Amino acid sequence: MPSSPTPQPQIRLARRADLPAIVDLFNATIPGRTATAQLEPFTVEERVPWFEASTPHERPLWVAEDPAGEVVAWVGLSDFYIRAAYKPTAQVSIYLRDDQRGAGLGGRLLDHVIAEAPKAGVHALIGLVFAHNAPSLRLFESRGFERWGHMPRVANMDGVWRDLVHVGRHVS
Ligand SMILES: CC(C)(COP(=O)(O)OP(=O)(O)OC[C@H]1O[C@@H](n2cnc3c(N)ncnc32)[C@H](O)[C@@H]1OP(=O)(O)O)[C@@H](O)C(=O)NCCC(=O)NCCS
Repeated sequence: MPSSPTPQPQIRLARRADLPAIVDLFNATIPGRTATAQLEPFTVEERVPWFEASTPHERPLWVAEDPAGEVVAWVGLSDFYIRAAYKPTAQVSIYLRDDQRGAGLGGRLLDHVIAEAPKAGVHALIGLVFAHNAPSLRLFESRGFERWGHMPRVANMDGVWRDLVHVGRHVS
């Protein structure tokens, strides 16, 4: 008898109750020094202003919830730069739990963002990715992002200088 396909995590807008899981997923990547320039874990309280700025109509934040109801990934838009003329440009952040990587979920989340971003008034998406974050660069490039900038030796993590790549694409 053919086996039924494994249910995939469902993508939905984030709720305030998801914030602890969202922060945990982010904090889990900090020690690897690959995904973020944040050096110490955030508390949930510290991320409340960011969460509240993640308004569905302008800077949406989504989670992927597995069939057991657990948040296993998130993706969101935030201001790329605070000046008003940059409003139509948003930065994409994407974080998957480590056991969810390499299974297509990052691509599904990015496809979702690309489809939904114009409804939030977004014209261009930017990813700020360390040059040594090969999976992230591959993921963005697989979804049509191009390298729009390269900033050499701009982050210092534990005495190691790291380059930052700006990847971008237009969505409308
Ligand atoms: C980056 C991330 C979102 C990618 O999502 P994913 O669904 O796991 O993506 P995949 O594992 O399928 O990898 C994407 C691509 O990178 C490739 N890849 C994976 N690991 C790699 C490695 N170590 N070196 C080179 N390429 C690698 C994959 O083969 C795939 O390329 P392909 O589609 O051409 O086969 C996910 O790994 C993650 O959450 N990482 C931690 C947080 C992070 O780095 N976020 C991005 C911050 S900018």
